[in-house]
Amino acid sequence: MKKIILLGYMGSGKTTIGQILSKKLGMVALDLDKIVEERAQLSVSEIFEQKGEIHFRKLEHDLFLELISNPESMILSLGGGTPCYANNHEMLNGINIVSIYLKATIDTLYERLHTASANRPLIAAMQKEEMKTFIAKNLFDRSFYYYKATHTVAVDDKSPQEVVEAIHQLLA
Ligand code: S3P
Repeated sequence: MKKIILLGYMGSGKTTIGQILSKKLGMVALDLDKIVEERAQLSVSEIFEQKGEIHFRKLEHDLFLELISNPESMILSLGGGTPCYANNHEMLNGINIVSIYLKATIDTLYERLHTASANRPLIAAMQKEEMKTFIAKNLFDRSFYYYKATHTVAVDDKSPQEVVEAIHQLLA
């Protein structure tokens, strides 16, 4: 049974690409944030607010372990921070596991995120300039973990369909 893990910074398209890839490959697509929210009966923002980020990271880690140990095939879209905590990056490769880093530049991420930050607690309260600086620094810090993925796909100038096609070719 095969697992395709999609990772990358907030706004890199993990969820969207997971859904399109799911249709193309006929595989179930799951979204880690969404399942954390269902389990906690709280939104990610509410978990951060009411229980703190460390609690969120623990829920995220436990669920990632659970899903990776599940024998079913799946496409799994991680949260932007998932590979960077609790040694989760060690689970990005293995027998029947292929992980794909959806790589976007700071400019692309900023363009996508500054209008879509409301339900992203790490950046929700930031002014535009502060957000760009944060993305630049945070992406630099996280890149070490993102590059542990089996493959990297640059997404900047590609439509979602083109990204899916690039992933499809890598898997062939
Ligand atoms: C986070 C990214 C979010 C979510 C949480 C923390 C991060 O997921 O897991 O807000 O640390 O980058 P998306 O990448 O799906 O926005």
